[in-house]
Amino acid sequence: MAAVTTEDGRREEVQDGESIKDACEKLGVPFGCSEGICGACEIEVVEGFENLSDKTQNEEDMGLEENRRLACQCKIKQGEIKIRF
Ligand code: FES
Repeated sequence: MAAVTTEDGRREEVQDGESIKDACEKLGVPFGCSEGICGACEIEVVEGFENLSDKTQNEEDMGLEENRRLACQCKIKQGEIKIRF
């Protein structure tokens, strides 16, 4: 079992290999298109960046900073990530 956490200590569990979208939604990340286009779900990954899937083409096209991801596009491989949004 993997997990997404926030700096204020909230935590949502995610199955290994699954999308972090639902967990992030419960933690309050705003979503729009859910297809990697609008940028509404951009998060900063404070810890555990290596636990995420590789960036998608949509994320690459958006030119995100190195520690930033689109929550609708990421899957978590295992372990935990800590996010800020
Ligand atoms: S919700 Fe639009 S990019 Fe993720």
